[in-house]
Amino acid sequence: MPEHVIGYDLARGLHIIAVIAWISGLLMLPRFYAYITASQPGGELEAAMLKAARSLRMIILTPALIVAWAFGLFLFATYIAGDWSRPLPEVFATVPHWFWAKLLLVLGLSGYHGYLSAEGRRIAKGERRRSERFWRLMSEVPFLVAIAAVLLATLEP
Ligand code: HEM
Repeated sequence: MPEHVIGYDLARGLHIIAVIAWISGLLMLPRFYAYITASQPGGELEAAMLKAARSLRMIILTPALIVAWAFGLFLFATYIAGDWSRPLPEVFATVPHWFWAKLLLVLGLSGYHGYLSAEGRRIAKGERRRSERFWRLMSEVPFLVAIAAVLLATLEP
């Protein structure tokens, strides 16, 4: 395997670490929104959960999303697509189907991340558009997507 600025295994390891942080944050955040929705408006629990949700978004979720994409695209550009001196259609024609299926899933997950951030800002302004039950159900979504993404990336069907 050709050598690049970051070795394949190190890049893959850092990718997976970022993915773990990203997915765990996406599992936790809707639960924080459920607690906020169920709490007394203006109360102590609401204030504590609003602060926790904002820290989770700023300190864990957004950096993890960026690092997961950065190493994912690095792995794609270096080890999956490889030789970019060929015509682009040829480069993309050799990319395995599992990668396109996985890319669709993680684009969806990134959109979901964006939706949670937007809802977080609304909730911080006091809006309560969704029920506690809605947020509890929503917190399961990232896990289902993660199962599919991990199996695509490891089994490479
Ligand atoms: C954010 C955008 C993402 C991109 C661009 C991306 C891209 C990649 C690429 C190119 C590889 C190397 C595959 C190989 O060498 O065979 C990889 C490995 C991997 N990815 Fe991602 N990925 C992304 C997100 C995710 C997510 C969200 C998950 C899980 C929830 C995930 C799980 C994995 C795993 C487990 C591996 C290692 C597979 C193995 O080596 O057996 N990735 N990813």
